[in-house]
Amino acid sequence: MKDNYNRDITYMRVSVTELCNLRCRYCMPEEGIAKKSHEDMMTAEETLMAVKAAAALGIRKIRITGGEPLVKRGIVKLCAAIAEIPGIEELCMTTNGTLLPRFAKDLKAAGVSRLNISLDTLDPEKYRHITRLGELEDAMAGLRAAEKAGFENLKINNVLMGGFNDDEIGAFTDLTKDQPIEVRFIELMPIGGGIGFDKAEFVSCDTVLERVPELKSLNREDGVARLYAFPGAAGRVGLIRPVSCDFCQGCNKIRLTADGKLKPCLHSDQEISLKGLSQPQMEEVLQRAIMDKPRKREELNAESPSRAGRDMNQIGG
Ligand code: 5AD
Ligand code: SF4
Repeated sequence: MKDNYNRDITYMRVSVTELCNLRCRYCMPEEGIAKKSHEDMMTAEETLMAVKAAAALGIRKIRITGGEPLVKRGIVKLCAAIAEIPGIEELCMTTNGTLLPRFAKDLKAAGVSRLNISLDTLDPEKYRHITRLGELEDAMAGLRAAEKAGFENLKINNVLMGGFNDDEIGAFTDLTKDQPIEVRFIELMPIGGGIGFDKAEFVSCDTVLERVPELKSLNREDGVARLYAFPGAAGRVGLIRPVSCDFCQGCNKIRLTADGKLKPCLHSDQEISLKGLSQPQMEEVLQRAIMDKPRKREELNAESPSRAGRDMNQIGG
């Protein structure tokens, strides 16, 4: 359905857990998070009801996020049930990839159409540093498992951090030369763990084009990513600029947190609870929330961080 500013809202990101097996510095606090009581979190049934209500209002695409969705018990069953909901045309998932060797095949069979895998570095030491708990080997095995399971158009999410991984921009873009993947560079947002970062660590996506001038614009977009590619390459490069550019005008999404809060805008603290409601009530609340979606976010930079009021693992990265 259309919101008050004539934006057609067709995409809902559904976070299924706040928990994660990693602790990426820009996302989560080192100690993890206090596990909320079970009663505060959405049950699988409630999540399904919320997606059905959203589908009735014109949501066509669902992205499952977290935390790490693959640490959620029953995730494959939940995906299968969401994929069957009439009106849902696309079911995607964002994952850190480390558990994909175990889950990739089942996710494919459950009807998950596409995967985005977070990977900020190709160096094992640096991977350990940025994720605090992870092993690069596991993420790479996950990537291979996803390919083997038949996932096409795999996307790699790379959060750009000055002085940390900007020296690997070339290595990441090179991956697209002979593999049919999309490497997406994402500007670090001053939200969650990202608020603690130094000003110098926020680098704009322009850096990618400066470092790799051979990249040619494809003059089109894939969601919020502007697409580029090397001439004749199998894959492509996406630039996502949540900071240096705002996509509020074309924003087509809403978010549902694992504790049942509907967030019409990532950077606003406006939240409406769906927890405990019946499906018709959820539909009513969803409709109101879409209507009330803010027109624009406030300014976003190191001095003026996001007003989201939650860490990214509690919203859905
Ligand atoms: N800035 C940018 N992206 C972030 N993510 C989480 N926290 C941030 C942040 N502060 C995104 C990354 C990651 C996904 C799970 O969430 O894209 O790959
Ligand atoms: Fe986990 Fe993803 Fe957050 Fe990293 S960015 S801590 S993998 S949810």
